[in-house]
Amino acid sequence: MAIEPLIEIPAGEGPRSSGLSYQDLLDLETRPVPETLREQSAREIPVVKVPIDRYTSREFHDLEVEKVWKKVWQFACREEDIPEAGDHTVYDIADMSILCVRGPDMQIRAFHNVCLHRGRALKDFDGRSDELRCPFHGWSWNLDGSLKEIPCRWDFPHVEKDEYELPQVKVGTWGGFVFINMDPHCEPLSNFLGDLPNHFERWPLEKRYKEAHVAKLMRCNWKANQEAFMEAYHVVGTHPQMLAGIGDANTQYDAWDTFSRAMTPNMTPSPHLTWEPTQQDQINSMMSASLDSPPMFNVPEDMTARQMLGQMTRMQLQNTVPSVQSLTDSELSDSFYYSLFPNFHPWAAYNRIVYRFRPYGNEPDKAIMEVIYLSPYQGTRPSPAKVHWLDFDEPWSNASKEFGSLSKVFAQDSYNLPKVQKGLAAANHSHVTFANYQETKIRHFHSLLEKHINA
Ligand code: FES
Ligand SMILES: [Fe+2]
Repeated sequence: MAIEPLIEIPAGEGPRSSGLSYQDLLDLETRPVPETLREQSAREIPVVKVPIDRYTSREFHDLEVEKVWKKVWQFACREEDIPEAGDHTVYDIADMSILCVRGPDMQIRAFHNVCLHRGRALKDFDGRSDELRCPFHGWSWNLDGSLKEIPCRWDFPHVEKDEYELPQVKVGTWGGFVFINMDPHCEPLSNFLGDLPNHFERWPLEKRYKEAHVAKLMRCNWKANQEAFMEAYHVVGTHPQMLAGIGDANTQYDAWDTFSRAMTPNMTPSPHLTWEPTQQDQINSMMSASLDSPPMFNVPEDMTARQMLGQMTRMQLQNTVPSVQSLTDSELSDSFYYSLFPNFHPWAAYNRIVYRFRPYGNEPDKAIMEVIYLSPYQGTRPSPAKVHWLDFDEPWSNASKEFGSLSKVFAQDSYNLPKVQKGLAAANHSHVTFANYQETKIRHFHSLLEKHINA
């Protein structure tokens, strides 16, 4: 397949929205501001237009499988999903399947989830067992991948035990997440993560538990899906109910080697507004069903909405987050959404969200979107939530038990996406076009994708 080129412009600065910048808001803090929030990345991403067939064609999907999914570190499960010896979980990506297993030595190993006899998937489901036994003819392996037993062993004189160890893939961990990489020559996970762990030092994700995990099947390409969660530019069009209390166009965007971040301030009015919301309007926009509904919380006279949200969150977290008194109002109010190439999106501070997006099998126009809540806890770690699957036509409101009113926001986001895919398939023009600043994260993603595809 001839790969359509990206279209680039010279890298560099550009204009910014009116209104308070994120750094202006940090200047208002009364507590010391962490250095990572003060960082602003250089602007070095020239990509601005991406060929539409990257979202629609099977050929490009096949390239992604070969050049990305078989080569990159990717989040497979949480360590807490497999806490005991024999615990295993299945991670499927495109048409590949990886089995993550906790061994008797408590090490986590990952294997291709395929029987070496006639190829049945070894495990269909997550679970716990003291061996990995294929349900078809009963070949079995020990939890470390060594061959254990072949029924009618006499009939396989040509099978050498050493040559029939389950092929392993590389495993690395960070923040309580288990990452796998199918490339035996890949760089260590720590190199790939770069400075990302440093950014999360104040908000250690390994000290959280998985409170919720919802996986929704989506009728759109996985990239179109994740790109809807990498910018605040769509808030004015898609979530207008929030504008009184979100500095959408004042979001700060940064991109470093393998990861990017957005910092969207909450409890500060959108520069799109043509009226001036009160502090109470700002709280209501986030905490009530609508601006007209009775307020759930009243902002005291001597406080801003931002200070109030900071204080409310500080109180909520006082028993579970020992460092909470030293956290700034920004860390307790705003949305910090990081993206690690290619598809892993942990939110920072205490917003709890982690997203993962991946293709649904080998279908370029279908995706799996997952939302995980990682919550702090007191005492013993609660058991991690099991995955709650939502089918293509199931609404996000079926996950309101997990996400409350946020499920309405996911519904707004999801409403666009099949229509994006429909439009891309119907397009009579060649490229999608990204903003110079507010779509920085997406442009950064595409420049990394390009690098992998051309590698
Ligand atoms: S296919 Fe697994 S034992 Fe035969
Ligand atoms: Fe959204």
